[in-house]
Amino acid sequence: MKVGILTGGGDCPGLNAVIRAVVRRAHQRGHEVVGVREGWRGLVEGRFQPLGPREVTGLLPRGGTILGTSRTNPYKTDAVDAVLRNFEQEGLGALVAIGGEDTLGVAARLHAEHDFPVVGVPKTIDNDLSATDYTFGFDTAVFICVEAIDRLHTTAESHNRVMVVEVMGRHTGWIAVMSGIAGGADMVLIPEHPISIEDACADLRRRHERGKDFSIVVVSEGYELDGADSEAGELDEFGHVRLSERGVGARLAQQIEERTGYETRVTVLGHVQRGGSPTPRDRVLATRYGLKAGDLVHEGRFGRMAALHGDAIVDVSLEEATREVKTVPTEWYEVARAFFG
Ligand code: F6P
Repeated sequence: MKVGILTGGGDCPGLNAVIRAVVRRAHQRGHEVVGVREGWRGLVEGRFQPLGPREVTGLLPRGGTILGTSRTNPYKTDAVDAVLRNFEQEGLGALVAIGGEDTLGVAARLHAEHDFPVVGVPKTIDNDLSATDYTFGFDTAVFICVEAIDRLHTTAESHNRVMVVEVMGRHTGWIAVMSGIAGGADMVLIPEHPISIEDACADLRRRHERGKDFSIVVVSEGYELDGADSEAGELDEFGHVRLSERGVGARLAQQIEERTGYETRVTVLGHVQRGGSPTPRDRVLATRYGLKAGDLVHEGRFGRMAALHGDAIVDVSLEEATREVKTVPTEWYEVARAFFG
């Protein structure tokens, strides 16, 4: 069988490791693999590239995606027919789609409506996909944030400053809460557990009154600050507001300084969180997901997604995985909260 593989949505470390594992497993099972360029756009426009064992040599530690990516959604551009036509014309018998809720949402719908032979692999630094404990890319993003927080700690301490660190995560606070816990943040603000600016400042004042002259505040880019316009900003191709443009970190820093009088600075980590080499944990997870996806294709088990449950790689339905976003549960937030103030 000829198997297509695509990477869609925001890139993240570990995509190439999945591609390598899918190609290796598919070849072991006697299948041929072809790369689809730039996510769903490649199927809409019929753009493919050869992808044999030679092409995936040395890919394991490499960040980004050798296939390119985009946020093209064929359902939003009336291009589903083109996807089905190009898939058939290329002689493909199966597709491995590596992506987050949007890319896999398209895969789930194509499978439900057209019996499209697709299997999914859960990718996103946001870790917000349901039906899996972790997505690959998340561990690397958290590692990068924690390193930044550690560095900000020393300069915050020298200058008696409050340092606000804005991290990614779109509508969920997974990156903020995990990097806040690991980096010893004094305040973590995430969309799932809003706190009023008065209460946040009261916690910071309490900390400073007990002799700590600096504080680290981690805020998720999707946090709703009192009075902020959550709909402001440009939309991407999947229809999401570009959250980096809302500047929640800068506005929070300004409000903290105005209310407390503490000198405050902001650092927006941005796309640094998606760059570079994957952590060992993400390399292993991506590799296990890739092998599982190769097996699912070989077994003809379409409409499924590789997933992590505890320590085991299992498969779940794409429909279940994309039904709703996985938010940060209160128990996780409470771990971070134990160190506020
Ligand atoms: O979904 C991954 C993510 O990095 C989000 O955390 C962030 O809001 C968004 O992508 C940024 O998208 P772009 O790369 O289009 O700026």
